[in-house]
Amino acid sequence: MLNQELIQKEFGYIGDHVYLNNSLVGMPPERVKQACRRFMDDYVATFNDSIKADLLAKRERAKAAIAKMIHARPEDIIFEKNVTEALSTFAMGYAELQPGTNAVIVDSDFPNTIYPWINAHHQRGFDLKVYRTCRGQIITRELLSLVDENTRVLAISMVQSGWGYLADLKALGQFCRDRGIAFVVDGFQGLGRLSVDVEECAIDYMPCGGFKALMGTWGAAFIYCRPEIIGRINPPTAGYQSAKSHTLAPGVTTEFDEIDFKDDVRRLEAGSQCTYAIESMGLGVELLLELGVREVEAHVLSLDRYLRGRLQELPLDVVTPEDPAALSGLIAILFPAELTRRAEKILSERKIHVTLREGYIRLTIALFNTQRDMDAFYAAMRELCRANAEN
Ligand SMILES: Cc1ncc(COP(=O)(O)O)c(C=O)c1O
Repeated sequence: MLNQELIQKEFGYIGDHVYLNNSLVGMPPERVKQACRRFMDDYVATFNDSIKADLLAKRERAKAAIAKMIHARPEDIIFEKNVTEALSTFAMGYAELQPGTNAVIVDSDFPNTIYPWINAHHQRGFDLKVYRTCRGQIITRELLSLVDENTRVLAISMVQSGWGYLADLKALGQFCRDRGIAFVVDGFQGLGRLSVDVEECAIDYMPCGGFKALMGTWGAAFIYCRPEIIGRINPPTAGYQSAKSHTLAPGVTTEFDEIDFKDDVRRLEAGSQCTYAIESMGLGVELLLELGVREVEAHVLSLDRYLRGRLQELPLDVVTPEDPAALSGLIAILFPAELTRRAEKILSERKIHVTLREGYIRLTIALFNTQRDMDAFYAAMRELCRANAEN
């Protein structure tokens, strides 16, 4: 049972709205809202006097929380602007991806999970092998049958953003590790709602943005990078933050042949950082740790099973994994497209927030959702089905 008092304190402002659009963007807790406001006030009030030390301290604190959440070391975490940039860094920089080799990707993944690979494939000449899913379902053995002796990377989302399938990360990761294939996992739709142990899942590289279930805001994503593979990534960007040393005025740069990159993952971190977004993400993760990552996962999955049980009574096409272990708290529903405007009206009258597209609803359960939220959504769907029957 999650600490309801704490949840009420942090999310009481949601009031009588039923917020289930956590896959699009999460709702920040009070501590994050306050930190965002305070960030600018502090910076102006101190005339930037301590800004550098403060920014570093904020980033270190966020790294510590994130590392704890995924069972990594803080020194293996860095920040970039977003998941697209983080995946592009790997796709453009991973030295093993040469012409004649290939990377395996999944067709139902979010475009920002896929496009960095298509772009790098064109620019660098390695091949792409695409796993064609049926309704976004990831069948481990089918996906792995694409791997051949030239495969160097398997890149996948932890949870399919459009369909909700949770990949079997342990099985995929172990398979890759045994064959020296880099296992790259986009954690954006899973972390903050589900637990991950990067060691146990043999993950090599995992980016995740801050503005969904990590409860931060736009402008920052973290990357976990396994130390053993850092040396195989040629940094596609460089700035003084990625180098061991640099020269500032009144000195001038004298070395133009080479950059002395840092040995650890910070070699991939170039340029200044959106620290207020990093701080926000870190504070969101701290809340998650306070509530218990495993406890949050159990809560999310129990509401997922409860809602699916209720929705079974209705004539709706609820996308359901064959394997119950693939449930993720993200539920996609297909319904007759001509009912979309009706669905929009019903949901908005009931203050229910989901992702709604033509004939498609996606709802995603977060730590602050309750059984009442599930009942409210079920009631809205029952009204939609009745409206359909009357037509
Ligand atoms: C799995 C996944 N990856 C990435 C993104 C977005 O990537 P970016 O942080 O580059 O906007 C989303 C959705 O916004 C997503 O669902």
